[in-house]
Amino acid sequence: MPFANRTDCFPLDWSADFPADSPVSSPSDLLLDPPASSPVDEVFWRREAQRIHWQRPFRQVMALEQGGPHCRWFEGGATNLCYNAVDRHLPLRGGQTALICCDRQGAERRISYAELHREVVAMAWILQRQGVLAGDRVLLCLPVMPPALFAMLACARLGAIHVVVSAQLSAAALAERIDLSQPRLLILEDKINRALLQEGLAPPAVRRIIVGDGGLEAMRYAGGAGDREAGELPGDGELGYRRLRAAYNNEPIPCRWLPAEAPSQLLFTSGTTGTPKGVVRDTGGYAVALCASLPHIFHTGENEVFFTTADIGWVTGHSYLVWAPLLAGFTTLVVTGGGTNTPGRRWWQLIARHSVTRLLTVPGAMRLARMQSETLDPPLTSLRAVYLAGEPLDAKTRQWLEQGAGVPVYDHYWQTESGWPILAGQGGALRPVMDRRVSIVDEQTGRPAATGMLVLHDHLGPGGMQTLWGHDDEFVARYWHHDGEGWRYLTQDRARRDEHGGITIQGRMDDTMNIGGKRLSTAEVEHAALTVPGVAEAAAVGIAHPLLGQMVQLYIVTAPEVPAARHADMRRCLAAVIVARCGRHGRPRSVIFLDSLPKTFSGKIIRRFLRRP
Ligand code: WTA
Repeated sequence: MPFANRTDCFPLDWSADFPADSPVSSPSDLLLDPPASSPVDEVFWRREAQRIHWQRPFRQVMALEQGGPHCRWFEGGATNLCYNAVDRHLPLRGGQTALICCDRQGAERRISYAELHREVVAMAWILQRQGVLAGDRVLLCLPVMPPALFAMLACARLGAIHVVVSAQLSAAALAERIDLSQPRLLILEDKINRALLQEGLAPPAVRRIIVGDGGLEAMRYAGGAGDREAGELPGDGELGYRRLRAAYNNEPIPCRWLPAEAPSQLLFTSGTTGTPKGVVRDTGGYAVALCASLPHIFHTGENEVFFTTADIGWVTGHSYLVWAPLLAGFTTLVVTGGGTNTPGRRWWQLIARHSVTRLLTVPGAMRLARMQSETLDPPLTSLRAVYLAGEPLDAKTRQWLEQGAGVPVYDHYWQTESGWPILAGQGGALRPVMDRRVSIVDEQTGRPAATGMLVLHDHLGPGGMQTLWGHDDEFVARYWHHDGEGWRYLTQDRARRDEHGGITIQGRMDDTMNIGGKRLSTAEVEHAALTVPGVAEAAAVGIAHPLLGQMVQLYIVTAPEVPAARHADMRRCLAAVIVARCGRHGRPRSVIFLDSLPKTFSGKIIRRFLRRP
């Protein structure tokens, strides 16, 4: 079935096409147009593709589907992400540490590749017993903790699609994402499950596996102390992870060989409307791109230890806390409760203690660290480089870090949609990485310009967004433009090119804000504000903030009957509602009451006027 024609996203029953352990055959001989002049560096990608195991070789590096912009990478090939990240390392690296886990209480535990394999197979067994099939979505709402990684890997093992939602989001935001992705199964931290129940938002027909949030000591198999098995019986549809894990009978669960283009993940991000967008990513392209990105963009060698501080519900967490380090057979730090908001001594100690070689974090965390203390202490002798992604990197923070850590500091520009970096650079100016082809075009004319929108040529690269879950029309309409020569992917970021070809990113051109590296749409905040009684109109804009880059400033027009005396109350209520629906980073810096909002003749809010200080 051609990709773009599906009505329900990916209804394919992979299990029928690819029974476990059987020789693979392609689901259909696809309607593919070979590109006229290749928009990809075939030689480069063929070579890079050798970094992973293919159960069946691919026929073509990249093929546009019916002229594009949909495309398939490594078409005809069959592989499995979990096999590449775990099983294939066993002969040589079984005893090597895969995960270094640190819990909130300070307990630490190392998990070797052999142990990881056992845990992942056990998790796959659990999922299978709950009826999870290839193509099903499994939604995880867990903080960074070992069972979250086991579950992501187990999904990939079975061909199920993992949907990881940040545990920092509210119950309402989680419920919305459950509704949008229609998962077969939920895996939730105990605390989050309680919040869902309290607000009456737990979907009655979907089973929930509950993972306790106890420390590693209490966790045997990194399961949970919070399974409530002592006194309380699990509620309706609830299963305790620890108990399920204890019942595992050592049955081997093989990896299911999947077509390269089988979706491996669905990851929600903020778009320009109030509804989150589900970015769908493939299997083979993602594996190859991540493996290639390590030597080419991160300059890695052998035996690296990665510390990616991101939440696993964010793209950086997916790609560089979980998948890339494991695909390459490296070691990755799994620090529970160590989130991007709490840098400083604990991080430096972790780096020193575990001989971390690569630190990947957001500029905001480093700005905070700089304000907390002038020096990086203890000395970080193991560190080889620091990478920052997610928001603009200011020169002062970059220099502080270069001097303090004494290692190269790289700025990486990318997006949830791209899955891995698009541009990278040292010292301020960015350049396209690997086979990325970009240009800057004038917003109005679409012609090349020194300042304008950054666009990618022809495709998003392997492992880039394949479509938006359930909204394929929007995927084409919102992100792609054909300029007569080829498809251009619109990043929605304004960029400037200097005389030497170096690129600087100036910020989003659409209605999304970037708060401490977290993307939030103005519409999401406004929708939340409009639920507060007495609010007639709401406009959110991002205003500059020294630490977070941006913060929300909220403008409110109240209903006529609301007296000014109620404004203080409303401010408190607005903050609470927005934090609950959009997360902590959505908390408005200030709420300003106006008689009316500035609007165009067509009734659109002119945010430019509101953004003025
Ligand atoms: C912004 C994050 C400046 C940009 C990995 C982009 C950046 C959005 C940089 C994507 C950077 C990301 N310099 N701005 N190095 N990296 N951005 O999807 O506006 O959470 O479009 O992915 O963050 O945010 P997302």
